[in-house]
Amino acid sequence: MTVGLILFFILVITINAQKGNLPDCKSGPLSTFPICNQSLPSRQRAADLISRMTTTEKITQLVTTAAAIPRLGLPKYEWWSDCLHGVGYAPGVSFGGDLPAATSFPMPINLGASFNTALLHRIFSTISTEARAFNSEDRAGLVFLSPNINIFRDPRWGRGQETPGEDPFLTSQYVYEYVNGLQRGEDERYLKVAANCKHYAAYDLENWNGTDRFHFDARVSDQDLIETYLPPFETCIHDAKVASIMCSYNSINGIPACANQFLIKTIARESYHLDGFVVSDCDAIEIIMNDHNYTSTVQDTIAVALHAGTDLDCGQFYLNYTQQALDNKTIIETDINQALERTFNVLIRLGYFDPPEQQPYRKLSHINVDTIEARQLALDAAQQSIVLLKNTNKALPLNLNQLRNKKIALIGPTANATRLMQGNYYGTPPFLIDPITGFQEVTKNYSIDISFAYGCKISDDDESGFVEAIELAYTSDVVIFFGGIDQSIEAEGHDRESIALPTVQLTLIQQLEKIVCSPLHVVIMSGSGLDLSYIRDSSESDSLIWMGYAGQAGGLAIANVMFGQYNPGGRLPITFYPASYINDVSMSDMQMRPSPTNPGRTYKFYTGQAVFEFGYGLSYTTFNYSWYNNSMNSIFSIRSLMKNNYNEKKLHLQFYRVNVTNIGQIVGDDVVLAFIIPPRNSFNDPSPPLRKLFGFKRVQLNINQTIQVFFPLNIDSLLTVAYNGSKWLEPGSYKILIRKQHMHTVYLRGRPTRYS
Ligand SMILES: *[C@@H]1O[C@H](CO)[C@@H](O)[C@H](O)[C@H]1NC(C)=O
Ligand SMILES: *[C@@H]1O[C@H](CO)[C@@H](O)[C@H](O)[C@H]1NC(C)=O
Ligand SMILES: *[C@@H]1O[C@H](CO)[C@@H](O)[C@H](O)[C@H]1NC(C)=O
Ligand SMILES: *[C@@H]1O[C@H](CO)[C@@H](O)[C@H](O)[C@H]1NC(C)=O
Ligand SMILES: *[C@@H]1O[C@H](CO)[C@@H](O)[C@H](O)[C@H]1NC(C)=O
Ligand SMILES: *[C@@H]1O[C@H](CO)[C@@H](O)[C@H](O)[C@H]1NC(C)=O
Ligand SMILES: *[C@@H]1O[C@H](CO)[C@@H](O)[C@H](O)[C@H]1NC(C)=O
Ligand SMILES: *[C@@H]1O[C@H](CO)[C@@H](O)[C@H](O)[C@H]1NC(C)=O
Ligand SMILES: *[C@@H]1O[C@H](CO)[C@@H](O)[C@H](O)[C@H]1NC(C)=O
Ligand SMILES: *[C@@H]1O[C@H](CO)[C@@H](O)[C@H](O)[C@H]1NC(C)=O
Ligand SMILES: *[C@@H]1O[C@H](CO)[C@@H](O)[C@H](O)[C@H]1NC(C)=O
Ligand SMILES: *[C@@H]1O[C@H](CO)[C@@H](O)[C@H](O)[C@H]1NC(C)=O
Repeated sequence: MTVGLILFFILVITINAQKGNLPDCKSGPLSTFPICNQSLPSRQRAADLISRMTTTEKITQLVTTAAAIPRLGLPKYEWWSDCLHGVGYAPGVSFGGDLPAATSFPMPINLGASFNTALLHRIFSTISTEARAFNSEDRAGLVFLSPNINIFRDPRWGRGQETPGEDPFLTSQYVYEYVNGLQRGEDERYLKVAANCKHYAAYDLENWNGTDRFHFDARVSDQDLIETYLPPFETCIHDAKVASIMCSYNSINGIPACANQFLIKTIARESYHLDGFVVSDCDAIEIIMNDHNYTSTVQDTIAVALHAGTDLDCGQFYLNYTQQALDNKTIIETDINQALERTFNVLIRLGYFDPPEQQPYRKLSHINVDTIEARQLALDAAQQSIVLLKNTNKALPLNLNQLRNKKIALIGPTANATRLMQGNYYGTPPFLIDPITGFQEVTKNYSIDISFAYGCKISDDDESGFVEAIELAYTSDVVIFFGGIDQSIEAEGHDRESIALPTVQLTLIQQLEKIVCSPLHVVIMSGSGLDLSYIRDSSESDSLIWMGYAGQAGGLAIANVMFGQYNPGGRLPITFYPASYINDVSMSDMQMRPSPTNPGRTYKFYTGQAVFEFGYGLSYTTFNYSWYNNSMNSIFSIRSLMKNNYNEKKLHLQFYRVNVTNIGQIVGDDVVLAFIIPPRNSFNDPSPPLRKLFGFKRVQLNINQTIQVFFPLNIDSLLTVAYNGSKWLEPGSYKILIRKQHMHTVYLRGRPTRYS
């Protein structure tokens, strides 16, 4: 054994002995290098470390499963951890020991339905605290490849559930809270954990009509890019200053996302000022060559991805072929250095190379996970996300006292849902409260009999459970049908083929309606919209609730809502289309605006009649809006707007104040939604949005209480986006609506003027 080898083994042993497998800046080889010097700028520290690596060593650091470099005292590092709605399973995350579980919040589609930015901030701060605790105990990394902020463009999309919905403004508010909640905490010196905005860009198709996401070329106009697909990424990168983004599987206008210089270099880095790195979606580098046929050699594939600015490969392609690319001179060593400087810079900003004892985040441990507060927050979030869609004759809330000694039947395939309520990208939760358990908990002091019959599965034709369900319903005082869909119908890699309620469920509902002694209640779980028009219109069903995938406390949340312990205030973050919608437009048609082969997408452009509209949701109480009419300041000249240094898009043109009053009999939350309707006759846009959200605010109101809410109107909300992506101020009347009520009109006078 040579001296070198012995030294090698000693090093390995020292490194393995370190708690948390951290780089040793105290006594190891790194300790004398600038990487461990906290007084130096992070970029300089990163550059120096990289300069000490051999080329072969550098290449091992270009992939998410990065090997140790024992010679330098650098431990192995797994870049891929996940926390979409709570710390979740990923190669970098392990549950066990002191950390058997993490809080499992409702899915992002539910969080969108809450329309509550303060709630979102609390949730994402809690997630980053738990994520840090996992890292302190060596059970997770520091970079979390969440959130998913693609626009939920088509109701068939299997991963729409991972997003807060279909509206770019709502998604932008969501991502702002997400990134801040993850990255910024009490210690301003460090990132709390690093977030990752994905999937950049225009990714929202899994597998449709024979084309999958690895082969799909999204043909997107500049208008749709600027107006719809990119705004959440702009907010994420420019405003929230995310530490990383992920390029997607699909191509955009013929160029694979991870090879797309225009999107990564020109837009993300130069225009939005990305201060961080770009990681590929997993195996998205090799598909540039193998699936998109964009390149024909591995050397060229490495070159187009690195030159576009994809710094880190979630996969093995960079590991296997970067040396060949160097040999063939399709890349030079500087390309590698640049990528590594960006990734290591983020690790330095996370405090990875700094002494743990001076970092508050490193003191977070298992006692900060699954706390009483976190459990309460998960329940609160589930309650806030539940949307009441129908409530005829005040069928809800159910009255506990009146139901004393009576019998309630929970019927249907989601009445005992557990993991189903976690959607996807989940971890191990501390518990999962299914609806039956939730109902038992809420009714336990009232000797109410809660019975369950499955009735049918989510979607197969088997009706053999009907008899038992119908017998139970026949002998019960209240019957609640729990239906919906699950990951067998909507999932990653799997888009929906129908947006109707599965036939077997509809059939059972219709049979139940015939025999129940009081009208039926229906509860739906799903991560996307369903055509619920039958239930909406049926006089035999009095109430209808959509509860998304509500997380670990979902069953208790729905019971609290149905018994009036919580007054629902969620609003739909997506349009519920009629079932025929999917025959009217091809899923691969990325266009938002209507055309002869497209009825238009989302509430902004859909020209048909929605089953339930974006923003829809009822309450057990009634709210009234009032405002002082203010027509004095409503006329602006475009010339003066351009001249008077209004050239700051966040500038407030107008400030709206709306009084919301609870004029009903029950405490409750209202979501006040502010829309703008641009003029129909535009110079640069033949088909302007029907309306667009520019503000929302969730408020809780006691009986007779009035709260004033504020909506700033920015120039940004008035801009017209032309087909080529240019932005314009155009003359005409812009109507301001509070929900459906016309509140004010802003007139712009003058000539159409290019704004940006
Ligand atoms: C760290 O960097 C600072 C600034 O360049 C320098 O003054 C100091 O000597 C360095 N410390 C060590 C231990 O090298
Ligand atoms: C599905 O794909 C086939 C074959 O590529 C094509 O002819 C057909 O038009 C596509 N269907 C729709 C609805 O776009
Ligand atoms: C890519 O090339 C392969 C084989 O050369 C071919 O089978 C495939 O159809 C091509 N794919 C595309 C999207 O052009
Ligand atoms: C990289 O190399 C490993 C080992 O030879 C192989 O198993 C793997 O499939 C390769 N991956 C890619 C993307 O080429
Ligand atoms: C890459 O280099 C190898 C060995 O030098 C050579 O055989 C091959 O043709 C080169 N390929 C390209 C695309 O330049
Ligand atoms: C729900 O009940 C059905 C029928 O009893 C059973 O097959 C299923 O496993 C249960 N699901 C869960 C999550 O407990
Ligand atoms: C049931 O009664 C107990 C004892 O009176 C009380 O502590 C508890 O809060 C009640 N539970 C519910 C759900 O009302
Ligand atoms: C609701 O507000 C309007 C003013 O916007 C007022 O005229 C009306 O009386 C209010 N209704 C109730 C029931 O308070
Ligand atoms: C709104 O409420 C505030 C405070 O309660 C009150 O001063 C104001 O007059 C109200 N405005 C309108 C338009 O009702
Ligand atoms: C305020 O404006 C609304 C809508 O434009 C109108 O219905 C209402 O009559 C106006 N109220 C007053 C006091 O002018
Ligand atoms: C974009 O389109 C507008 C018309 O909508 C035109 O006036 C403008 O010159 C175009 N800009 C570019 C850069 O093509
Ligand atoms: C709400 O206001 C109404 C009308 O002013 C009044 O009769 C009622 O007592 C008030 N309710 C509460 C709970 O304050």
